[in-house]
Amino acid sequence: LFAGETSFVKGVVAMSGLPPADRLEICFAGRSNVGKSSLINALTGRKGLARASNTPGRTQEINYFERDALYLVDLPGYGFANAPVATVAKWQELMRAYLSGRPTLRRAFVLIDSRHGIKKVDDEILTLLDKAAVTFQVVLTKADKIKTSEYPALLEQVGKALAKHPAAYPELILTSSEKGEGIPTLRSTINGLLAD
Ligand code: GTP
Ligand code: MG
Repeated sequence: LFAGETSFVKGVVAMSGLPPADRLEICFAGRSNVGKSSLINALTGRKGLARASNTPGRTQEINYFERDALYLVDLPGYGFANAPVATVAKWQELMRAYLSGRPTLRRAFVLIDSRHGIKKVDDEILTLLDKAAVTFQVVLTKADKIKTSEYPALLEQVGKALAKHPAAYPELILTSSEKGEGIPTLRSTINGLLAD
């Protein structure tokens, strides 16, 4: 199952460039800088595999990685990005088209910064996933940046927001790519999808 080597397949800049939809696929979506690329690195145990950076708007293509019988897809972020407006608009349109039009997309992991909870811009993406009937699961990131005493308020805010979304998978995963927290849980969740 989720055990082999991970390799980079390709960076995609248009829907026509997507690889053949011939295997299970999961993707990582979320606001710019939320930690999508870092999470893929933590998950696969390969530090420099997906390029991460402190500059919002680092990932500007749909990056495909291959591991076992699975595609892992690193998406460009939504929301503020440090790049020209027209460029941002183009990749965000592609990201939305992908999220609503990929037949083999088994689950979208939507990353939410533990410090910020679900924002309006996240909610718009969750609504898009509802409409496309793509099951999504929230992964809280950067857990190392908050105190455990802040967990209850965060979980309540996120839980309330998710209650309005029929495509939401109810279980949340709290992670830190930096400290490794929650990474084994996310791995076993993905294994569960592969085994289904
Ligand atoms: P875009 O590609 O720009 O949309 O960003 P992204 O969502 O891929 O975020 P990325 O993985 O590039 O990480 C953004 C910044 O957050 C980097 O400086 C990371 O080092 C940092 N970061 C990511 N995960 C964690 C974490 O778990 N803890 C802490 N403290 N920092 C993190
Ligand atoms: Mg990225």
